[in-house]
Amino acid sequence: MNDPAGIKLRYRTFADMECRGYSEAYYRLALAVAEDDDVVAFLSRMSVAQPNLFFASVQLLAGGDHMPSTGPELRQFLRRRGAEVGDVMRSRRTQTNEVGRCAVLLPALPPGPLALVEVGASAGLCLLLDQFYYELEPTPLGDASSPVHLRCALAGPVPLPSAIPEIVWRRGLDLHPVDVRHADAVRWLMACVWPDHHERRRRLDGAIELARAQPPDIRAGDLVEDLPALLAEAPDDAQLVVFHSAVLSYVSPGHRRAFAAVLAEASRRRDIVWVSNEGAGIIGELAVLVPPPSELRFVLGRTRFTKGQRDDEVLGVAHPHGAELTWLEPRRLAERFG
Ligand SMILES: C[S@@+](CC[C@H](N)C(=O)[O-])C[C@H]1O[C@@H](n2cnc3c(N)ncnc32)[C@H](O)[C@@H]1O
Repeated sequence: MNDPAGIKLRYRTFADMECRGYSEAYYRLALAVAEDDDVVAFLSRMSVAQPNLFFASVQLLAGGDHMPSTGPELRQFLRRRGAEVGDVMRSRRTQTNEVGRCAVLLPALPPGPLALVEVGASAGLCLLLDQFYYELEPTPLGDASSPVHLRCALAGPVPLPSAIPEIVWRRGLDLHPVDVRHADAVRWLMACVWPDHHERRRRLDGAIELARAQPPDIRAGDLVEDLPALLAEAPDDAQLVVFHSAVLSYVSPGHRRAFAAVLAEASRRRDIVWVSNEGAGIIGELAVLVPPPSELRFVLGRTRFTKGQRDDEVLGVAHPHGAELTWLEPRRLAERFG
């Protein structure tokens, strides 16, 4: 059970912090929820009343084109289909796989050949980053015939590579991997994209098409417990890169430190580049390098473990779905370890 006043506050905060200026549809709907005692009463009976989960559940059942857009429409929808919405909310967790983030990750990658490991990979769509077309200024990158075109507004001296690095091996790890060959999994992935985010839908569609043609190898497992075994499989003759985006906020601070410790331990055997794209303050090692941005922004970090030397850098701040990247002046912490 959730407290109604807490739910109202949560939906108002969601509207102001996450939707304003980014999704008119969810901005209006979240504010409408916060004002609607019937809808709030429905949500108070759910063990998880999180806005993204609620709206995705409604969208799954209503369909993107028929998503209720006002408080009265939502109330009416719940009268008819509330039991089904409740079932969806109880049986699913929000699941996104946002390939837009690849435009942010790309400049942080070292030159190839690369062996890529993504933790919290979801459907593994970001592992296909060499198959996308990057409409970047001044120089686009990749294959223009790709079904996935990514745009990202760049600011500052972003060091764009002259070509996408060669990826010779790639693996993903996720507690709950998504298999895009299953129609139901794809419908849920789509339902988790906000209804007025048409470009995100298009690129997700395109990435799913690529993944269906060549499914990435995503293992079920935890990013601490199961990572060492996966890293041990990586070929020796490629630079090992471990990356993640929008993942570490889902694990406890202790588990985040344990993850960093796994990487440090593995780097005793080989060099590793760790690229992270997470909410501000999520990675303690990087939080000391950059004050948390005031808006909702991700911090792009890179830690290089090279021959016993650890070098932590904050490279930039980014829009959470990859629409913008601002490159920062060099901010780094280098220390010996081990
Ligand atoms: C918000 S999604 C992000 C997916 C993807 N990284 C992206 O940027 O689109 C977070 C993913 O992290 C996974 N995850 C959460 N905790 C995890 C853990 N302890 N080990 C592995 N994966 C985890 C979830 O299952 C989910 O697929």
